[in-house]
Amino acid sequence: MTDKPQPGGTGRIGTKTVARMGYGAMQLAEAPSVDDATAVLRRAIELGVNHIDTASFYGPGEVDRRIRAALAPYPDDLVIVSKVGARYTGEQPIPLAPAQKPAELRAAVEEDLRQLGLEQIPVVNLRRLDLGPGLAAEGDQIVDLDDQLAEMIALRDAGKIGGIGISAVPLEVVRRALPAGIVCVQNAYSLLDRSQEATLELCEAAGIAWVPYFPLGSAFPGFPKVADNSVVADIAGQLGVTGAQVGLAWILAHAPNTLLIPGTRSIAHLEENIEAANVTLDAEALERLDAVGTTEPQPHGVEPIQR
Ligand SMILES: NC(=O)c1ccc[n+]([C@@H]2O[C@H](COP(=O)([O-])OP(=O)(O)OC[C@H]3O[C@@H](n4cnc5c(N)ncnc54)[C@H](OP(=O)(O)O)[C@@H]3O)[C@@H](O)[C@H]2O)c1
Repeated sequence: MTDKPQPGGTGRIGTKTVARMGYGAMQLAEAPSVDDATAVLRRAIELGVNHIDTASFYGPGEVDRRIRAALAPYPDDLVIVSKVGARYTGEQPIPLAPAQKPAELRAAVEEDLRQLGLEQIPVVNLRRLDLGPGLAAEGDQIVDLDDQLAEMIALRDAGKIGGIGISAVPLEVVRRALPAGIVCVQNAYSLLDRSQEATLELCEAAGIAWVPYFPLGSAFPGFPKVADNSVVADIAGQLGVTGAQVGLAWILAHAPNTLLIPGTRSIAHLEENIEAANVTLDAEALERLDAVGTTEPQPHGVEPIQR
């Protein structure tokens, strides 16, 4: 037992128990300074976050380094989750390129281990390119799932990663990956983007964590923001909370296997997001919110941007 706060209650990611309200660190690549990033990360830990999402290609390496600078030696209960499958190019508007080959997956895990100063990355997502928004694989970057999973399993067998997740994949790919013992799925999903509902349900049935990215609609211009939705804003007004909080509270209430990783570089937004764990939506509010995502156009129709 722990006397630490566990915002959102707890959930499982593989063998680990974490607070359901976690933190996505991608935005910290562009935090104004290392000190700002440190302050956000330390405040997250203070508030009970023990699940942080990162990638060696954020920055590149900068987010990993900022996490290490802020938090090492790491709290015993901290679960750092990374992803492999892309590499940083710095080009605009998309600073990433696919890195899907097994040797590239291994190299990215080695990079995470080095930058984070860990002997094992607790969970690493195989970030495929099957689903938008994002890059598409072409040529020799179209790599068979089984070859990738074999490499991920070898990395797990070697103790370099603790668990395997999978990301940006349709339902049939999740099904194919289940025998590898995957512990989570990361796809884009929010109140406004319910296109992955069947995959969420498969995760629930399989007893694995559903970790939606872009839970607030992302930082990208052109992607609908959850807080801007009129029903969300109306309910937020009635409850005296913010639209972002309503959007996050809805996801938590919607599926018990969800672990949230909203991203921010602002302490005020971090505090607000974590407080969303204490927002209760009554049956009427839930019903109105449930209806939103089924009627909104799906943001994946928007010009894709890769992360
Ligand atoms: N598996 C994958 O392929 C993949 C892809 C993308 C992201 N991810 C992970 O998922 C995490 C979450 O996604 P994300 O960060 O891209 O998108 P997000 O969480 O949907 O939204 C982040 C954006 O929302 C703003 N924001 C956050 N809290 C807010 C609040 N309370 N009120 C108003 N605005 C708020 C942030 O701006 P401020 O900084 O100003 O707060 C930022 O612009 C990432 O950090 C990353 O770790 C994974």
